[in-house]
Amino acid sequence: MLLLREVRFQFPDPRPNRYPWNLAALAHLDSLAFPTPVTFFIGDNGSGKSTVIESLAQAAGFNPEGGSRHARYDAVHTDVHLAQGLHLIWNLKAMSGFFFRAESFFAYVNYLEDIDGFDPYGGRSLHQQSHGESFLSLFRNRLNPHQPSLYLFDEPESALSPTGQLAFLRLLKEWSDSGLAQAIIATHSPFLLAFPGATIYSFDDGAITAVNYMESKPYQLTRTFLEAPDVFLRELFRAEDHVDEF
Ligand SMILES: Nc1ncnc2c1ncn2[C@@H]1O[C@H](COP(=O)(O)OP(=O)(O)OP(=O)(O)O)[C@@H](O)[C@H]1O
Ligand SMILES: [Mg+2]
Repeated sequence: MLLLREVRFQFPDPRPNRYPWNLAALAHLDSLAFPTPVTFFIGDNGSGKSTVIESLAQAAGFNPEGGSRHARYDAVHTDVHLAQGLHLIWNLKAMSGFFFRAESFFAYVNYLEDIDGFDPYGGRSLHQQSHGESFLSLFRNRLNPHQPSLYLFDEPESALSPTGQLAFLRLLKEWSDSGLAQAIIATHSPFLLAFPGATIYSFDDGAITAVNYMESKPYQLTRTFLEAPDVFLRELFRAEDHVDEF
C-alpha cells in the first residue's frame, strides 16, 4: 500500500555548514518520491541513509530511537534536527507502523519486555534468543499489518544469515501482499534489494538517485566478487586505496 507519497525537504536558508544539513547526498535535494510500496536506501557507509530514515521516522511520529508510534524511551538520544524541515505528503496517513533500528535494538528490547513481557515473542525473552533469531522473532510477531502501517527499517539484515535474509524477503512479500503496509528500508544486502518492483535510491556520489537492481553497487560488487573471488582478491590486495578503487 502506498501511504507516504513524497517527502519535501525544507532546509534553513542559508544552509548551516554542519551535520546534518551539509551531507553531500542532500546538497541538491528538494524532494523524494515513494512511488512503490517498497523503497530501499543504499549507499556507502556514512552516505546519510540513517540520517534520512531517522528523520522520516521522527517526522512520521515514531520514536527516532526505534519502535512503534507509541514507544517512548531513550537510548542514546537521537535527534537529527532534519525532521523539523521535512514535509511528509501522505496518500493516507499511517496511524500504525514500526521503526526498526539495528543500532538501538537492544535498548528497544529492554523497553519492549518492560511493557509487553515475552508472550508476543514465543514466550521467550528476546535477550535469550540469538541476535538473528531475535530480529526475526520481532519481525514475525510484532509486524502483522491489520491497519495501514508504515514500516521503516535501518539495516534489518545486519544480524541475519543469508537464509535469515531470505526469511525477511518472505515477510516483506507477506506485508506487501497484505495491501496494508509500506516499507522503507536502508540496506547493504544484495538479497533484500532483489525484492520485485521496489524503488532503489542510491545515496552515493553526492546525490540521491534512483537506480535499478542490476546497476546497484551491492549487486554489482557482490556479483563481480562471486564470479571470480581469487581474481577479485588479488586486485583488492594490490590496490593502494582499497575502498576508492571498488
Ligand atoms: N550526530 C551526529 N553528529 C555529527 N555527524 C554525524 C552524526 N550522525 C552521523 N553523522 C555523520 O553523518 C554522516 C552520515 O551518517 P549516517 O549514519 O546517516 O550514514 P549511513 O549512510 O547510515 O551509514 P552506514 O551505512 O554506515 O550506516 C556520517 O559521516 C556520520 O559520521
Ligand atoms: Mg546507517
